[in-house]
Amino acid sequence: MTATIVVGTQWGDEGKGKFTDLIAKEMTMVVRYQGGHNAGHTLVVDGESFALQLVPSGVLYDHIVPVIGNGVVVDPVVLLAEMDKLTAKGVDCSRLRVSGNAHVIFPYHQELDRLIERHLGKNKLGTTKRGIGPTYADKAARVGIRLQDMLDPKIFREKLRVVVAEKNLMLAKIYNRLGFDADELADRYLEEVVPRLRPHIADTVALVHEAIEAGQQVLFEGAQATFLDIDHGTYPFVTSSNPVAGGACVGAGVGPRHIDRVVGIAKAYVTRVGSGPFPTELFDADGDKLRDIGREYGTNTGRPRRCGWFDVPMMRQAVRLNSLSEIALTKLDILDTFDTVKVCVAYDIGGERVEHLPYHQSDFHAAVPIYEELPGWKQDLSAFTQRAQLPAEAQRYLEFLEAQVGVPITLVGTGPGRDQFVHFS
Ligand code: IMP
Repeated sequence: MTATIVVGTQWGDEGKGKFTDLIAKEMTMVVRYQGGHNAGHTLVVDGESFALQLVPSGVLYDHIVPVIGNGVVVDPVVLLAEMDKLTAKGVDCSRLRVSGNAHVIFPYHQELDRLIERHLGKNKLGTTKRGIGPTYADKAARVGIRLQDMLDPKIFREKLRVVVAEKNLMLAKIYNRLGFDADELADRYLEEVVPRLRPHIADTVALVHEAIEAGQQVLFEGAQATFLDIDHGTYPFVTSSNPVAGGACVGAGVGPRHIDRVVGIAKAYVTRVGSGPFPTELFDADGDKLRDIGREYGTNTGRPRRCGWFDVPMMRQAVRLNSLSEIALTKLDILDTFDTVKVCVAYDIGGERVEHLPYHQSDFHAAVPIYEELPGWKQDLSAFTQRAQLPAEAQRYLEFLEAQVGVPITLVGTGPGRDQFVHFS
């Protein structure tokens, strides 16, 4: 088995980073395939915490080549700052490779992200305001600038002049804002960014294939999650890329026949940041309790996350969309103190019981969860490492989820530490 994809199955923040870090030991290469610094996870290693946004989790292991694939959008200033922070903590970032085809997030993308959100008012998407959407929009409109363009100063300057002229028109005419100076931007990036980034820019498609051909273990690390996918998520309340497993093929340049294993990361409950439908969202004390115990505040933006019970119909859809081979269930310990634990097994939509995600989004908005209530285990799970040791109620909860979803749970997270997992296989 050489190629594994790790994908979020809900609305993000499922704990992909921690799982990726765990299986990274067996990997030679870890590849990010979409998104940008809208992602963020914190890894706790020997009591020290590492906040990662763009750099793949594998960077913390000396034997891994961390790769940022062509499908990622890169703010090079943020990337360099992140590398500096890691270096200051003793992490070697010299092996990091970034695709020359990755598109660059510029300050005008971030400015537009903020302005568009403000313009949308109560209809705002709740983006991370990192310029992700405007950068992918430029990519699709074929006016984006790739990292490789920055290596040719003449081309870079020309492309920047064209695109900045267009952005300045938008900023002035639509938003009544001052524009950017293309030459000043070009000078700054050519002086401060390019010399430092140049050694890291590479043909990452070739690197990934060389690793696969050599029989090495390659991990494709998804950011965001299935229901934030621009095609399969709750559009328009989604991100602008394809976090689903298929996105790894496009965003890293591998064909589907190379993929051996797809691990879906699911939290034992559900959270969401930003706007959009969320059938099992809780507005009561249980929701507050999940947020408090689970420390459900954005790693990146500090925003409180919306919290709710586990949603089986969503999970069944995630299994289909990603062809999941297994599930890693994270943060089970957050449910330790609940008397009972609820699981949404179907929706009531207009009086009809629906077991799968409704095709029409208006139905999803109207979906009322139908719950099964299971007894809680009322015990601290943090010290357990084997499935058989778990309290009977926790085992029952896991068996119930497996039966409902139809995919085995192979790993369960029981605490924030690097080794706090129960292994099932
Ligand atoms: P954008 O990706 O910044 O454009 O934001 C679009 C939507 O995706 C918003 O609802 C964000 O809150 C959400 N989002 C983006 N990145 C993450 C993430 O890493 N975790 C959770 N939600 C995210």
